[in-house]
Amino acid sequence: LNAAAVVPAAGRGERLGPGAPKALRELGGVPILVHAVRALARSRAVGLVVVAAPPDGVAEVAALLADHGLPGKDVRVVAGGPTRQDSVRLGLAAVPEDVPVVLVHDAARPLVPVEVVDAVVAAVRAGAEAVVPAVPLADTVKRVEPHSDGTPEPVLDTPERSSLRAVQTPQGFRREVLAAVHQRAVTEESAGALPPVTDDAGLVERFGGHVVVVPGHEEAFKVTRPLDLVLAEAVLARRRA
Ligand code: CTP
Ligand code: MG
Repeated sequence: LNAAAVVPAAGRGERLGPGAPKALRELGGVPILVHAVRALARSRAVGLVVVAAPPDGVAEVAALLADHGLPGKDVRVVAGGPTRQDSVRLGLAAVPEDVPVVLVHDAARPLVPVEVVDAVVAAVRAGAEAVVPAVPLADTVKRVEPHSDGTPEPVLDTPERSSLRAVQTPQGFRREVLAAVHQRAVTEESAGALPPVTDDAGLVERFGGHVVVVPGHEEAFKVTRPLDLVLAEAVLARRRA
């Protein structure tokens, strides 16, 4: 039990459309967040899960997780913040200093297989400071000059697909590395605007750290848009069959 998981769950889920906050929407009758916490708790390495909940929903989320009891695991709920990065930092602050490995896992990835969780923990234990699970891309990707007015966007170039990976969570870190980059991000962002980073490993890269990739899994996809809910229900039904 030498790993803790921080679960950012404070987002509204705008892209999913109207309804409850995304983490509280149900999949097979169980809230997405509960699936995600259970998926992490399946790993023997994970002893503590810290959930960063919507600031006005801390009591509700704590009650929900208590209802769905996770025997043998320490589950704590803290208030998240206005951005995902804030929520992760606030969750991390609730992880005891003596926990050597910290995972960060999106509540919005409820179906991640335990093999992915274990592979990430194993890579950190083997010496990596930052580990991300990732999968090859099916689509060709083009970099464009973005237009917000709907007019056709000029293509700049096409990165070679075989060298691209789509990155998932849980991402795993040596605790002190994750804490240091989040702290440094706060300091440097108050000094001047930095471009947004969309994952925690991105902060490690920004500050010169070393990130490695291990195989992810197609079922670790993020529930983002309505079609993802359809897919998630189908995966769950197949598992239960
Ligand atoms: N998240 C968070 N705090 C925020 C914003 C996001 O903890 N202020 C979490 C989400 O709850 C989610 C994860 O970060 O588990 C990944 O973010 P995303 O999929 O973008 O979720 P939302 O921000 O909720 O969705 P959207 O961007 O469509 O509003
Ligand atoms: Mg978001």
